Amino acid sequence: MENDNALRYPIVAVNESATKHLMDNVKGTGQSTIDGILRATNVLIAGKNFVVCGYGDCGKGVAKRAKGMDANIIVTEVDAFRALQAVMDGFRVLPIKEAAKIGDIFVTVTGNKNVIDVEHMELMKEGAILANSGHFDAEVNINGLRKIAKKERKIRPFMDEFTLNNGKKIFILGEARLINLSAAEGHPSTIMAMSFINQAFACEFLVKNKGKLEPKVYVLPPEKDDEIAKLQLEAMGIKIDRLTKEQEKYLSSWQEGT
Ligand SMILES: NC(=O)c1ccc[n+]([C@@H]2O[C@H](COP(=O)([O-])OP(=O)(O)OC[C@H]3O[C@@H](n4cnc5c(N)ncnc54)[C@H](O)[C@@H]3O)[C@@H](O)[C@H]2O)c1
Repeated sequence: MENDNALRYPIVAVNESATKHLMDNVKGTGQSTIDGILRATNVLIAGKNFVVCGYGDCGKGVAKRAKGMDANIIVTEVDAFRALQAVMDGFRVLPIKEAAKIGDIFVTVTGNKNVIDVEHMELMKEGAILANSGHFDAEVNINGLRKIAKKERKIRPFMDEFTLNNGKKIFILGEARLINLSAAEGHPSTIMAMSFINQAFACEFLVKNKGKLEPKVYVLPPEKDDEIAKLQLEAMGIKIDRLTKEQEKYLSSWQEGT
């Protein structure tokens, strides 16, 4: 919107703060997505082929937790570096067309649309479970699915069974809306505290700079992340060390230890 001059007022992109996207997205979405899938299905995660579409902050959090529950993780990506990160984290990386054939549980966390499309659903195994925890219910092509499905029935409050034109049944959780919000309770408050304090600092920044900002996207300075991290540690009763004068000098010099 900034590039198109479509913004009418300044925006602070709070998601850019490390204390937001490396906490809320990784730890919050990681945990609450699994929580949503379990509440919706009560399915056993262990031993399942668990496909995570998108290996960004949310995808990393979801994949790590599913791995901790003994699933076989398969990642799909469109970004080479993110795919490489998944490989180096010990996960199998496949194109969605291949992953679709072997996955038992699918989670989309991309912010994109039709990441799991009808052509992929048609390749899926009987009983495959699909959930979305990304930005919107467009990540799974649910409208396309409705067009080709022979039958749709609700079998649990957040679990709908679709019988495809090829006779196979697949399950959509929470109408493919954000599973952690539709079937669970969203993120725990401890993690949201860091997102909300970022928003509070963003409001403070906007008020303090009233009249001086342009209709552009702003990010909070890294010092705010440091301040938030200190506050969070304090709230958790955790103390850390401080650099000694000698260490400060050593770290900023090139004459010693090189
Ligand atoms: N459920 C929640 O509570 C919650 C919380 C935070 C963020 N989100 C949402 O989750 C989504 C992901 O957030 P993030 O912080 O991980 O973003 P991110 O940008 O770090 O990661 C998204 C990843 O998806 C990949 N991707 C895009 N299109 C793809 C495709 N077709 N197939 C496979 N991979 C694809 C990108 O390459 C990227 O690596 C966003 O839409 C965000 O708004 C949800």
